[in-house]
Amino acid sequence: QTNTPASGEWQTVGKAKELDQKGQLLVKNSPVGNVLVVGTSQTGNLVAVDPTCTHKGCTVDWKADAKKFACPCHRAEYGSDGQVQKGPAEKPLKTYTAKIEGDSVLVKS
Ligand code: FES
Repeated sequence: QTNTPASGEWQTVGKAKELDQKGQLLVKNSPVGNVLVVGTSQTGNLVAVDPTCTHKGCTVDWKADAKKFACPCHRAEYGSDGQVQKGPAEKPLKTYTAKIEGDSVLVKS
């Protein structure tokens, strides 16, 4: 048995209250790894990705105005679907499905 949860299982990564305060929730070393959830508990379709840039591993930031993720290191950009919009990254960010249940934020891969 490893520490990695079976994929496809919902994992709690934080509180809806924390998500609502900033409109995003960054959790390092959650049960699924690093995860960045974007939205609020009122958002129908929450966006959730592994914010680890696929170029060299920096942590990307969510740019709410542009609705994209931007890497501070070499300026790669990804859409809210995790797809690369601008290099030097070539591979998409890993994405998760996210939902609110009670006062918890859950994701699954
Ligand atoms: Fe993100 Fe290089 S580490 S663009």
